[in-house]
Amino acid sequence: MNSHDLNKFAMGTLIAILGVIGFNLLSESIFHQAPLEANAYPIDTSAVASASVADVAVEEGPSIAELLQTADIEKGMSVFRKCAACHTTENGGANKIGPNLWNVVGRDVATNGTFNYSDAMLAQEGGWSFDLLNRYLTKPKDAIPGNKMVFAGLKKGSDRANVMMYLRSLSDAPMELPTMAAVEEVMEEATEAVEAAPEAM
Ligand code: HEC
Repeated sequence: MNSHDLNKFAMGTLIAILGVIGFNLLSESIFHQAPLEANAYPIDTSAVASASVADVAVEEGPSIAELLQTADIEKGMSVFRKCAACHTTENGGANKIGPNLWNVVGRDVATNGTFNYSDAMLAQEGGWSFDLLNRYLTKPKDAIPGNKMVFAGLKKGSDRANVMMYLRSLSDAPMELPTMAAVEEVMEEATEAVEAAPEAM
């Protein structure tokens, strides 16, 4: 795109924006007789901002919130066979090479009082959110460098989601799942922004 084209593009965008504002003003005055409140015609830039957020999200593949929507406890139990050599799951179960995992989802990291954690694990702040678990189970040694869980990781997002769904069930009060509402809102705004673009040009 040369500078001439760029100017045309800028003009086109400006005209389009003025057009949209003008149309809104016009239709408001025709169809809406009520007295105007302050900020009756806010220029909504949220769709534009969200569109770029959505681009990033799409490039990274489905979010863990999306993956969890279709996750399955039964499948998670079979994925967990890879973990069972080192972890027990029942309430009050013994530690093996790794700590017992009852009630681990949502709990602060490295707080099973009976297990001897690595310093790296003890230094990890916060709790086992689905997001942190997702990163840890993808590649333990990258997510928490220096931790002593000798496990390559689960490459498939669906395996991680299924096993997290199973881990979540190991509790008397399972942690709430992340909702899709937030994800959908961003996707809708992005779609609207894309659909509106050709009309405005
Ligand atoms: C070879 C043994 C081994 C395997 C296999 C293994 N883990 Fe671990 N896991 C550990 C060890 C050891 C730790 C403690 C790490 C530390 O203290 O640095 C740990 C820690 C954890 C923690 C943190 C627990 C806490 O109390 O904060 C979770 C969650 C976890 N493992 C889940 C899994 C899952 C899920 C799998 C299977 C996909 C798995 N692990 C496979 C050995 C293993």
